[in-house]
Amino acid sequence: MTLVCAPVKVWPQNLQVDLYEFEEGRVKTIYNQNRELVFTLIDWEEEVTSFLTPLIVSYHNYQETKDLELILEKMKQKWPLATYYKIATFATSSLDALRMLVFQKQNTNVIGICMGKHGSITRILSPIVSAPLTYAPLTEEDQNAPGQLTWKELLHTYHFPLLNKQTRIYGVIGDPVSQSVGHLFHNDQFKLKGKNKVYVKIKVKEQELAQFFECIESLPFQGLSVTAPLKEKVLPFLHTRSPVVSRIGASNTLVRTENGWEGDNTDGEAALKGLGDLSGQTAVILGAGGAARAVIYALLSQKARVVIWNRTPDKARALSQEFQCEWAHIFSSYDLLINTTSSSLEEVDIPWIKKALVIDISLKPSSFLERAALHGCQVMGGFSMYIQQAIKQQELFE
Ligand code: ATR
Repeated sequence: MTLVCAPVKVWPQNLQVDLYEFEEGRVKTIYNQNRELVFTLIDWEEEVTSFLTPLIVSYHNYQETKDLELILEKMKQKWPLATYYKIATFATSSLDALRMLVFQKQNTNVIGICMGKHGSITRILSPIVSAPLTYAPLTEEDQNAPGQLTWKELLHTYHFPLLNKQTRIYGVIGDPVSQSVGHLFHNDQFKLKGKNKVYVKIKVKEQELAQFFECIESLPFQGLSVTAPLKEKVLPFLHTRSPVVSRIGASNTLVRTENGWEGDNTDGEAALKGLGDLSGQTAVILGAGGAARAVIYALLSQKARVVIWNRTPDKARALSQEFQCEWAHIFSSYDLLINTTSSSLEEVDIPWIKKALVIDISLKPSSFLERAALHGCQVMGGFSMYIQQAIKQQELFE
């Protein structure tokens, strides 16, 4: 696998790359470390009558990713003697990028790259699908195609030189995923444990889910973290559901087995990690959505008394019936107050109880917790919950 750093303005002394590429108008030349000419790149439209071999011919489409088989077929007709066919197209969705990865895996004489933010995974995962080379600029200012990652990011975050055909792929799916820091945590863990695994972020919309699972069928995906709004939507694609997934109807962790995908949920358990014995304690849950369900399940498993409050009282009532716990429109005493809504609930008259622990499961800075702290409550944000669920996911990804 080769990492090409382009364009190189200053020759770095200690950069570990196999090939260097220089821009020379439209014809690019790639050199190896001994500065011998290795390849000549010639653009698809370039009228070249005689050329050096080995040769890379390239095709670019900055708008979309169309029929890849057809593009390759045409290139082969025009340049039958080329060593490599570079196909760089713009990914309008992650599905385009996944199609490119599958295509790359099937064609070892192709250098398949998707441009744009959705296309970054084709660059990160390129060694796993046998791409002969990929491109990475030395600095962000040197980027010459959208979606390129710097060699430092490939090296430090994704441990790119360690990736190969045996590497197993993990990732987070959801919409959006840009805020997720899972790739930092999980890639670090894989590296520390010496695992041949890599973790990427993939934006998948609800309506793309069926095609997503189809696309990754032939790629070595082994595990997935699932975030909003897909936690409930992934259920039809599961072969097996853990008891917690069956009970709460949502999954945040998928593991691939010989039979298919197994779904688990690490959210609720993580929210309560480190809180000690909760049996007999009264917990008020603010909200009655998917996140509330995971937390309520975990609380009831620990024999806590659960009272649900929700903006729409009917939903609180229905949920309390389903889980056989209580609901209230006005609440008073409690030991634990957990905000599972994404709102700061400014308009809700909350009886702040000084000896209570107040938790907001949101990862964002929470003005809800600021108010609780001002009233002398002990407060806890969503970060520790996030880390706990990620640690549990690491166990499931073993
Ligand atoms: P999630 O999976 O993140 O829990 P959800 O299933 O859409 O998302 O549930 C969102 C929860 O947050 C609901 O309980 C919702 O209250 P309603 O049932 O009344 O819609 C609650 N919520 C969202 N925004 C809110 C707001 N501004 N004020 C109060 N509750 C809010």
